[in-house]
Amino acid sequence: MKRIVVLGSTGSIGTQTLDVVRRHPDKLQVVALAAGTRGEELLAQAREFGVRHLAVGDERLAAEVVADDLRAQAMQAGRCVAAAAAGGARGAAGASLAGGGSGTDARAAVAADEEGSLGFGADAVAALAQLPEADVVVNALVGAAGLRASYDALAAGKVLALANKESLVVGGDLIMPLAAQADARRRTEGGAPAHGPAGALMPIDSEHGAIYQCLIGEDAREVSRLWVTASGGPFRGRTRAQLADVAASEALAHPTWNMGAKITIDSSTLMNKGLEVIEAHHLFAMPYDRISVVVQPQSAIHSMVEFADGSVKAHLGTTDMRIPIQYALSYPERWDAPVAPLDFTQLGSLEFAAPDEDAFRCLALARRAGEVGGTLPCAMNAANEVAVAAFLAGEGTYLGIAECVEAVMEAHEASGVQRVESLEQLEELDAWARCEARRNVR
Ligand SMILES: NC(=O)c1ccc[n+]([C@@H]2O[C@H](COP(=O)([O-])OP(=O)(O)OC[C@H]3O[C@@H](n4cnc5c(N)ncnc54)[C@H](OP(=O)(O)O)[C@@H]3O)[C@@H](O)[C@H]2O)c1
Repeated sequence: MKRIVVLGSTGSIGTQTLDVVRRHPDKLQVVALAAGTRGEELLAQAREFGVRHLAVGDERLAAEVVADDLRAQAMQAGRCVAAAAAGGARGAAGASLAGGGSGTDARAAVAADEEGSLGFGADAVAALAQLPEADVVVNALVGAAGLRASYDALAAGKVLALANKESLVVGGDLIMPLAAQADARRRTEGGAPAHGPAGALMPIDSEHGAIYQCLIGEDAREVSRLWVTASGGPFRGRTRAQLADVAASEALAHPTWNMGAKITIDSSTLMNKGLEVIEAHHLFAMPYDRISVVVQPQSAIHSMVEFADGSVKAHLGTTDMRIPIQYALSYPERWDAPVAPLDFTQLGSLEFAAPDEDAFRCLALARRAGEVGGTLPCAMNAANEVAVAAFLAGEGTYLGIAECVEAVMEAHEASGVQRVESLEQLEELDAWARCEARRNVR
């Protein structure tokens, strides 16, 4: 039984992760859940899965009625676990979050008893990543806000099932050495599979899950190129001029994937592909000049790996995130498919095209940020988050997203890109870049 924490449980990846758990109750147990603002949804999930460790990112919810219900749920589920433990059915109850660890103001809103816990604020969410009784942390938070949880999960020796690509974009230079240490520990302690990667960091992004699988059994020195596939988004084929009046509702209508709002906008601007190029660079230690993006509008091929002898391995599957989510949780095993497999007789044709980097400038901007490296991807990512939020709120234009990202990157390059050294340094730079971006929303 793998005991999992789901951070961002009320979102697109979070709810699909819980669906995978529903299908495999004999293999997966949810021990903690965290959400941002949707308290009622979190409560329903906690009740369904009997979860006793809960956290809410938005501290304002601590003063709302739902907080009492969440607290009651945490305590009640805790008592059930304690009773089961007393009866010898389970291990000892876990520590209360309120009782130890790095207490902060946010934790002032924590209520807990011996067995269950409820916390509000960013610290409470990140604390769940280190929960002693958890084996796996699914990081399905959105944005750079997910970086600390990724870092803490690996530092605590958990398997990190990572959907939050921004963790690697912003902090890949910190996360990957931690993942390597965690892999080495897993090998020494016998927690790693006999063959293949040790599995401390499992990508959930479908493209990276695909590459991960294509690389199993291969010699990394014989890999010549990674091909990251892109659907092309809802505006594929448009020129830059034709993108000038795009409304948020149009950009939110993705042709092949059903996702959260931020990643859907990123997919339409191709920033998502740019973030994925940086993610692939870190995950697979691949130089940027050997990572290519190809538009594959059917999204049936999730990515490809090309080898020195000209052979190419592709990963195909139904366009449903529950497949890569489940693989990240089942590795090194494969469990029964969570959705119907691809029916090739119905697939029709597969198309390929080069991305249009003139119309969709964010891809080239992200690639440049990755190539320069250091703290530039952090500034680039923060600017993108601000510009996308402004566009969704009707305060910025679609083409203004790339303009804002470029302006912030230039400002950061002018003041001096630094080597990445710590989470604190990145958090400080992220805050600066957000201020700078707000001045450049247009
Ligand atoms: N969706 C996909 O198909 C997909 C595919 C590949 C990769 N990803 C990546 O997965 C991540 C999540 O994407 P998504 O589409 O699932 O996003 P989403 O639907 O917007 O969900 C985000 C989740 O994070 C929670 N959250 C946001 N800010 C928080 C905070 N400060 N503290 C605690 N919780 C917070 C939200 O809570 P509330 O809703 O309660 O506010 C929600 O549960 C992103 O990095 C994305 O790039 C997504």
